[in-house]
Amino acid sequence: MKPVMPPAPAGLKNAGLYLHVPFCEDLCPYCPYNRVKYDEGLFARYEAALHQEIDLYAPYLAGTTLGSLYIGGGTPTVNAKGLQRILAHLRTAFSFSGDICIELHPRHMDDSCLAMLRSEGVTLLSLGIESTSDNLLLKIGRRHDGRSALDALSRARRAGFKTVNVDLMFSLPEQTIRDWEEDVRAVLDLGVDQLSTYPMFAFPYTDLGMEKRAHAVMRPPGRTIRKMLEVTDTLCTANGLQRCAVWSWLRPSGQKFSSITRHHYIGFGPSAASMIGTHFYVNSFDVNAYAASLPGKRPVALSMEIDKALEMGYWLYWRVYELNITDADFRRQFGKDASLTSAFGHALWPLCLAGLAEHTSEGFRITPSGAYWVHRLQNEYSLNYIDHLWGICRRNAWPGEVVL
Ligand SMILES: C[S@@+](CC[C@H](N)C(=O)[O-])C[C@H]1O[C@@H](n2cnc3c(N)ncnc32)[C@H](O)[C@@H]1O
Ligand code: SF4
Repeated sequence: MKPVMPPAPAGLKNAGLYLHVPFCEDLCPYCPYNRVKYDEGLFARYEAALHQEIDLYAPYLAGTTLGSLYIGGGTPTVNAKGLQRILAHLRTAFSFSGDICIELHPRHMDDSCLAMLRSEGVTLLSLGIESTSDNLLLKIGRRHDGRSALDALSRARRAGFKTVNVDLMFSLPEQTIRDWEEDVRAVLDLGVDQLSTYPMFAFPYTDLGMEKRAHAVMRPPGRTIRKMLEVTDTLCTANGLQRCAVWSWLRPSGQKFSSITRHHYIGFGPSAASMIGTHFYVNSFDVNAYAASLPGKRPVALSMEIDKALEMGYWLYWRVYELNITDADFRRQFGKDASLTSAFGHALWPLCLAGLAEHTSEGFRITPSGAYWVHRLQNEYSLNYIDHLWGICRRNAWPGEVVL
């Protein structure tokens, strides 16, 4: 990726928007995301710049109907009034047709905040519960307890959103299989629509990584991941949820909460990434540098050109992650004459022979044993990419060339 300004987005199909809110009340020591401690003055600078960034992009997207908005963090509701102003601006600047998804922290989602999100058109929620054990929450440096996290989940369920997803982390220090079973049961008992589970990684540039003197991303042993995923699959299936992605299980009546279903998207805020078909790019991670760049110039730190083959590879990567690779979606994205088997048969047929994928009437599906290996592959690829790119971008607001 190079420090080169990419062209403005044009001719996007089914594009989504991403909004990054990089503030948290407390910083969890294991967290790899771009976030800083909440500060009123810094938030005000961020918010003013964000409104300018929206205005800068509005002319490029005039006449385009956007399929969705994903709000991630950080803790997007750490300043609920500020978020409300940003949402109001996004809705006047762009035309939306689809869902609005948001990541929530159990400590920043009181009933008035949930009511505000409903009135602003938010439809899908994801709660970072992580664990229901006070002891484990304390060990990983989370500042909430299990009871208040489960209470937050009950309130979110009652508030009437389309889907409530819960994030749980496993392979925590000294966590037993029994602890994990209790976590999964507790959220399933409260009728969660979707469950996403993540093994805890130590990224070298986080406080946890430094404490462990990690030189590369440290991940739990394969057998722990396999065992915990088996337990999750058994409990979710018994409760009527089906696997909908490598890390997630969904109630069949629910709508999937996902950050990666949009092929093209424009990101707003520090560190937000954009994929506009011909280019992939990321904004500066530093809040002050991001704000100083606006309103004169788009705050893009690094970009790379994407040719057709790479764009197709990018599409395939995320469809494999979702375990379902369909001809119809491939043609929708790349034109009615595009052929999934011509483009990727050489990669997918051998997976079928090895029992890792199967051919279906719609295209290809990753089998349960394939899902485990996709999980491993996904870890390696995305962690190396995240660790390398995010590590550099966190150290340097305007980095030089980064070779991925
Ligand atoms: C941006 S956070 C969620 C929203 C909110 N900031 C919170 O923490 O509740 C996204 C999710 O990534 C997962 N996560 C964070 N750090 C991780 C790590 N080091 N390894 C694995 N998963 C991690 C957690 O499950 C977390 O809920
Ligand atoms: S895990 Fe969530 S709350 Fe904790 S620092 Fe990261 S983004 Fe903030």
